[in-house]
Amino acid sequence: MFAHDIGDVVRAGTLEGQVVLVTGGGSGLGTSFARRLAVDGAHVVVGDVNESGAGQVASEIGGEAAVFDVTDSAAFDAVVDRVVAHHGRIDVLINNAGIAPPPDPERTQISFANQALRMEGRLTELTPIDATVSLTDDAWHRMMNVHVSGTFYGTRAALRHMTPQRSGSIVNISSIMGLRPAAGAPHYCAAKAAIIALTKSTAQEVAPFGVRINAVCPGWIDTPLLAPMDPLALAGIQMQIPMGRLGRPEELAEVVRFLAGPESSYCVGDVFAASGGWV
Ligand SMILES: NC(=O)c1ccc[n+]([C@@H]2O[C@H](COP(=O)([O-])OP(=O)(O)OC[C@H]3O[C@@H](n4cnc5c(N)ncnc54)[C@H](O)[C@@H]3O)[C@@H](O)[C@H]2O)c1
Repeated sequence: MFAHDIGDVVRAGTLEGQVVLVTGGGSGLGTSFARRLAVDGAHVVVGDVNESGAGQVASEIGGEAAVFDVTDSAAFDAVVDRVVAHHGRIDVLINNAGIAPPPDPERTQISFANQALRMEGRLTELTPIDATVSLTDDAWHRMMNVHVSGTFYGTRAALRHMTPQRSGSIVNISSIMGLRPAAGAPHYCAAKAAIIALTKSTAQEVAPFGVRINAVCPGWIDTPLLAPMDPLALAGIQMQIPMGRLGRPEELAEVVRFLAGPESSYCVGDVFAASGGWV
């Protein structure tokens, strides 16, 4: 066993003295990640474009808020540089900020009708849902920007400090849709798959320098992101989840906590799904 491995084991269980930035920390999964890391002693910077969400979570956990948009690379650089200027380091970055495609009630109804027809074997009567042909350039670019560019900007900004520091952990929040894409949201699925490739490429580049980068693929998790969904569609999804229920943000926070800390010392470019059996 190498000497530094012994040190890692000794430090396992605490994040005391660690400085963490969580994007999208003002809601849902990001909030539970921020809370979980703070419980183990990390100083958490709660990043979000939503000022009140970030402020509330930061004050609850004794951290600090950083109000910025992850699609603004200069703003991302400035926040990371400011964190390092104030605290002397950045140990963990959770690239979590994300958006979902807006609900489309008409398409949902077509999907329901198609499912009924499929059950009866009436395949020639299906109606095209046209999710791809009706997707605008703006919607495509917005989805790519928030997820792929945002994750890239954050990774680049953090690595400028982590590589010279010779330590750090970056956790990118992808999705089961990046592993097992579904019809209806090609931009979301493509963005989440791109995050996985970005994770693996960057992880291989910096692994020799003490920086670890991994991805988490949540299944269907009960957060405000799912709130606009049609209740019947959500019920249908729950029926398909082998565990029979949505995940809780706290359940994902345990995976993120593991990857953030020294307990995951041999995880590099690895992809962790927590899906209730969906994947
Ligand atoms: N909830 C799920 O079922 C689920 C499943 C798989 C993956 N995810 C992913 O998990 C992440 C968090 O999702 P959630 O369910 O907690 O959603 P959420 O809507 O509850 O929270 C997302 C947060 O990100 C912030 N945000 C959005 N765009 C931003 C931007 N450009 N810059 C900065 N902040 C921004 C929002 O203000 C919000 O606070 C997302 O990347 C999402 O794609 C969620």
